[in-house]
Amino acid sequence: MFTSMPFLRNINYRLLLSQFSITSTLLSSPLLYSYNNISGLSSALKPVFCDSGTLFQNSSVTNTFLRPFSLNMAWYCSANSNEGLVNNLKTAKIITSKRVEEAMKATDRKNYVSYSPYRDSPQQLGYGATISAPHMHAHALQNLEPFLQPSMKVLDIGCGSGYLTTCLAEMVGPEGKVVGIEHIKELVNMSKKNIQKDRPDLLESQRIILIHGDGREGYPEEAPYDCIHVGAAADETPDALINQLKAPGRLFIPVGGRDQYIYQIDKDENGNVTQKKVMGVVYVPLTDADKQWSR
Ligand SMILES: C[S@@+](CC[C@H](N)C(=O)[O-])C[C@H]1O[C@@H](n2cnc3c(N)ncnc32)[C@H](O)[C@@H]1O
Repeated sequence: MFTSMPFLRNINYRLLLSQFSITSTLLSSPLLYSYNNISGLSSALKPVFCDSGTLFQNSSVTNTFLRPFSLNMAWYCSANSNEGLVNNLKTAKIITSKRVEEAMKATDRKNYVSYSPYRDSPQQLGYGATISAPHMHAHALQNLEPFLQPSMKVLDIGCGSGYLTTCLAEMVGPEGKVVGIEHIKELVNMSKKNIQKDRPDLLESQRIILIHGDGREGYPEEAPYDCIHVGAAADETPDALINQLKAPGRLFIPVGGRDQYIYQIDKDENGNVTQKKVMGVVYVPLTDADKQWSR
């Protein structure tokens, strides 16, 4: 029954299983069953996204159980082309800014991931890392958009494939700068290769610089930043990152262990810091390189 529903055809069940530890019964049971067997989700079933895909966007169990999957689920944004994918994210109202749309259309995901580049789910990069799902990239760009104006400076922590780093550079324009930091050397090389293939000008002009290092410390050498994007979940918000924000500035960061949320942390022009919980998510941890990938 469910596979006949077009919005369910694109669900990458294997990744769902790995990201959420869903029991194998998911594949053979009604979705309501899987609902109850997902570990790591908040009991209130608050909006939950994973760096792979939107799973629940309704907070009430009293809603028809299919509703989150049918009406609000973002996995159905998959397409056969980069343009189609971005158009689907727009139709789903995940992308509302013209500038975000243009940046994502200008950055073809096929240059950053070998398999299923237009599927709205994460894909393995190797070394214990994934490229995040297109809809999470779109949410991040949308959230940071006011701080991605021409000539602004950005820090992208856990830059992985280099895809989001390129979108960020696209948005801040020729006078802007993006520092990508990644703790796995092989992934730094991969992101360099990917960006070189797609937009060599961004590396030559140093509109993007890529650093091998621990992102939990930020990158003080280039601070302060108008905004900081973090692509992996921190145990708690690292003070080092807040200290490296400009005033005003914004940090977009997943925080938490089993219960993770994206936090938007704003520093105002007077240096006052406020934080807002944006959405529930499941991200890989911001961790030590050898814990993530042992050679
Ligand atoms: C979910 S992936 C996202 C990658 C990238 N944003 C993308 O979409 O291609 C998280 C990334 O964070 C990196 N990472 C994890 N802990 C880190 C740390 N302490 N410092 C720097 N990078 C880290 C991982 O190696 C991985 O590349």
